[in-house]
Amino acid sequence: MNILQISDLHFGTRHWDGNDEMLLDKINSYPADLVINTGDSTTDGLESEYQDAGQFLKGITCENVISIIGNHDKRNMRSHEYFEKYIDHDEIILPSRPELTTKKDLYLQRDISKTKNYFTDLNYIKIVTIDSMTVLVICIDSNILYEEEGFVEEEILRSISRKINRMKYDKSMMLIHHSILTMDAEPLRNSFHVTDFVREHKIEDVFCGHSHRLDLRKSTDLYFKNSFTQYMVGSLSTSNLMGNDNQFLYLENWGTAEMRIHLIRILLDDDVMSFTEELI
Ligand SMILES: [Fe+2]
Repeated sequence: MNILQISDLHFGTRHWDGNDEMLLDKINSYPADLVINTGDSTTDGLESEYQDAGQFLKGITCENVISIIGNHDKRNMRSHEYFEKYIDHDEIILPSRPELTTKKDLYLQRDISKTKNYFTDLNYIKIVTIDSMTVLVICIDSNILYEEEGFVEEEILRSISRKINRMKYDKSMMLIHHSILTMDAEPLRNSFHVTDFVREHKIEDVFCGHSHRLDLRKSTDLYFKNSFTQYMVGSLSTSNLMGNDNQFLYLENWGTAEMRIHLIRILLDDDVMSFTEELI
């Protein structure tokens, strides 16, 4: 099974000056079974940005494209509705006991919001079957409305756990926008709850974005003896500071001893685009 990871497209004012068509051709040249997009498809969560990002993602020819929401995508009271309309959707997992939830703006105030759906978190589980292997793709919403830092609602993790415990699958992975292992200026505030969840469900691979930098890291808990790998990929098509290249990851034969990790960098020199590929 081959996986291609993209992240941080930032359609809108932070989108790059590169050629999106050329980028799509490059992405589509890899025989990926699954493409995962780990959030921040937009800059400010505007409907026009969501439309453009959705159009780009539709240009990916892979049959299985799964996207999650990022903090930039949540800069709008209608973010969750736009994301479901233009980017991705599935059965949203709700907290079993709403009265115990603590995440800020998890529910919008009905008297001031004209949204149809007052619940703002987008957590879901997708099932992908490739070569008779069933993979659970656990999509976690680590974002808070209008905020850059992350927080994952524990009541929702409990609801997801109950669902996973009833499912049959061969392998699982988690997609989450914020890193659960490393910290930047806008970190996930309760990463320990998520690492507990990863351990509980024996998830071996976590994919994230957010920091616009590459960080591939294996974590081993010496007490519980579990281990997982976190793949943090840099931005795909963003106007970045000098020295911060756009990129994507291609994991050939993911989950096997023959896995090969390819890092594809996208270089922009004035208007000339080029690609480099490195085997990690
Ligand atoms: Fe982000």
